[in-house]
Amino acid sequence: MAPPAGPRGLFAGNQLGLMRDPMGALAKLATHGDIVLFRMFGTQRIWLANHPDLVQEVLVTRSKDYRKGRGLQAAKRLLGEGLLTSEGDLHREQRKVMQPMFHHERIAGYADAMVRHAARARERFEPGQEHDMSQEMARLTLGIVAQTLFDADVEGDAADIGSALTDALVAFRSARLPVSELVSRLPTPSNVRLQRARVRLDAVIHRLIAERRGEEGSDLLRLLLGAQHEDGGGMSDAQVRDEALTILLAGHETTAQALTWTWYLLGQHAEVEERLHAELDDVLHGRLPAAGDVPRLAYTAQVLAESMRLYPPAWILTRQAVRDTGIAGQAVRRGDSVIVSEWLVHRDARWWPEPERFDPGRFAEEQEKARHEFAYFPFGGGPRLCIGEPFAWMEGTLLLATLAQRWRFRIVPGHPVELLPLITLRPRHGMRMVAHALPRRGRA
Ligand code: HEM
Repeated sequence: MAPPAGPRGLFAGNQLGLMRDPMGALAKLATHGDIVLFRMFGTQRIWLANHPDLVQEVLVTRSKDYRKGRGLQAAKRLLGEGLLTSEGDLHREQRKVMQPMFHHERIAGYADAMVRHAARARERFEPGQEHDMSQEMARLTLGIVAQTLFDADVEGDAADIGSALTDALVAFRSARLPVSELVSRLPTPSNVRLQRARVRLDAVIHRLIAERRGEEGSDLLRLLLGAQHEDGGGMSDAQVRDEALTILLAGHETTAQALTWTWYLLGQHAEVEERLHAELDDVLHGRLPAAGDVPRLAYTAQVLAESMRLYPPAWILTRQAVRDTGIAGQAVRRGDSVIVSEWLVHRDARWWPEPERFDPGRFAEEQEKARHEFAYFPFGGGPRLCIGEPFAWMEGTLLLATLAQRWRFRIVPGHPVELLPLITLRPRHGMRMVAHALPRRGRA
């Protein structure tokens, strides 16, 4: 096969296009084919793989040929060697240790706490008032992950954790540039912010760890503290800190963004919202949902799925080849980067007719069966598949159900809705929405 017609010159005078408008830049690149080679800063070879077969190849079939890409290497400065950023044997062992916390039976056990938090949150909204749904959802999902997995209350720390996380995510954006490796130790404003964020987050995590040490219980922190590796050694304090911080952050930010975009989309599509309310009435008759209701809240889950198609919280995944390998018949060299993008594949008309249209019906069972497994991959795939996926579906469905029973949200007129593509896909100016109360039904 001939080398792909990569747009070698495309970024020659505009290396930062991918930083400034990554979605636009990726879409432009994808016009060159399903596999495109380009260069940044003259040396860094980057492949964009834009076909479900190729996504599967990178994430699953040839996953051994890759490690996590530059963005997540940068995230190590905050997360250390936690599950999201570690590699090889350490990653495999840690994943095995933590997996029991994410089994289906375990997750069903978290449902009550999820609903309890959502029921409390829905009391905080006021009819006719503006709320930043992005912040509201982050506070809610943070409270849930802390409660269910750490048996802890972080309500008082929510604002601090939120701003530290935002600072860190913004700092990681510049860390994606190859040059930043050279300056990563200099006291640039972004490095200083990242360092401060680390100190603030560490204070919370160390407090949680100190509170749990020596106590009986079955939450994730105690599991980590009690874990013995096969060689008999315990998990070091630093390792426990890295894993706990990773779960606290990865376990709330993505779900919060998914829900934020869902409220936005529902606010734009009254017909979908009506159907959602009809299902909630039908299944719940006004009572609060529970784990046992989730299989019957099929449309609610489809709304969430379709929202993550259009606004995937993780919108790009990068890998770096650890050895010479191949993709689509092309020679990938050791050190090359490969990008796959949920944003691009989820909006590709070849797999999604009328891709811009918000239509939860696409996730009805027959339609799902007819599609390529990797036309939709909001949770990634292969050995690095999101460990929290079942948790996120349970939580997203229950939160959506509990809040939508009581409220509709409409975007504040004139509020600009723009993308802010960090590691996660956020709304650049938050999501200011007005709450409208629904008539109470039954016992809700
Ligand atoms: C809608 C919600 C969520 C989305 C869209 C999402 C997305 C993802 C994606 C795409 C990855 C793979 C990254 C890669 O391959 O480079 C990932 C990994 C991960 N996620 Fe999630 N996630 C969500 C919720 C959660 C939750 C609720 C938790 C924990 C409670 C969690 C914890 C993790 C961890 C620890 C990893 C690293 C797994 C590993 O590499 O073994 N995520 N997530």
